[in-house]
Amino acid sequence: MEVSQRLALQNEKLAAIGRLAAGIAHEVRNPLGVIRASASMVREHFTSGEEAYRACDFIREEIDRLNGLITALLNFARPAELRLQPVSIEQVIDKALHLTSDELQRRGIILTRESTGTLPSVLADPDLVAQVVFGLLVNAAEAIEQHGRIIVRTVSEHNQVGVEVIDTGPGILPSDSERIFEPFFTTKPTGTGLGLPMAARIVQAHGGTIEVVTDKRTGPQSIGARFRIRLPLQGPVTVQEHAA
Ligand SMILES: Nc1ncnc2c1ncn2[C@@H]1O[C@H](COP(=O)(O)OP(=O)(O)OP(=O)(O)O)[C@@H](O)[C@H]1O
Ligand SMILES: [Mg+2]
Repeated sequence: MEVSQRLALQNEKLAAIGRLAAGIAHEVRNPLGVIRASASMVREHFTSGEEAYRACDFIREEIDRLNGLITALLNFARPAELRLQPVSIEQVIDKALHLTSDELQRRGIILTRESTGTLPSVLADPDLVAQVVFGLLVNAAEAIEQHGRIIVRTVSEHNQVGVEVIDTGPGILPSDSERIFEPFFTTKPTGTGLGLPMAARIVQAHGGTIEVVTDKRTGPQSIGARFRIRLPLQGPVTVQEHAA
């Protein structure tokens, strides 16, 4: 299949997910709320050691998980609206790191920052870019599980900046390197598989690129996955500018 055909198909799939998500959100959220509140009420009648109490907790936990999934779907369905401003990528990374530092510490993961000189500012949406970096860090931590290293590297290139997130996890099979960007592709029991497609959508809306660099080295020198984002300094190029 040609690239353009594949992209068209992907877009159709995304639009269908969007319609589905909006429908699900309306029809499912309210009853879920009622079920959760009822489980909480029933739980009141038991003490924490009892089986029924634990059953109520299970109900609540699963409902929270479903609500999380619906929120993820809705965020995914909404077209990314960019609030562009001059952004320091280093600050955006700081923010994402701040959100993950407890989790990294808990897992015994050591994080290192690398940078090639001072980065120019980028016209971007700081919250959305932070969301992308955050998602990559969480993926890296989940891949490592316990004890390993993550390197966040920033690179200044000709009229763009690059951010790389490199981990010492098991890496990604070359045969999976395209599928991981497809909606709902996940190898995790409670994953949505929307993290990377969402990241790709945000980066592309900025006129940038995201890719996974597969590394063929093996043995003790091997590294796990390496994700690379590139953002143009001038932000997304509008169609008009393109034509001019
Ligand atoms: N750093 C990584 N190392 C190894 N595999 C990875 C890495 N990042 C992503 N993957 C693979 O890509 C899949 C898709 O990632 P994505 O972030 O889209 O969804 P997820 O992490 O499974 O779910 P969610 O983001 O909702 O928690 C993962 O399930 C995992 O198999
Ligand atoms: Mg993820």
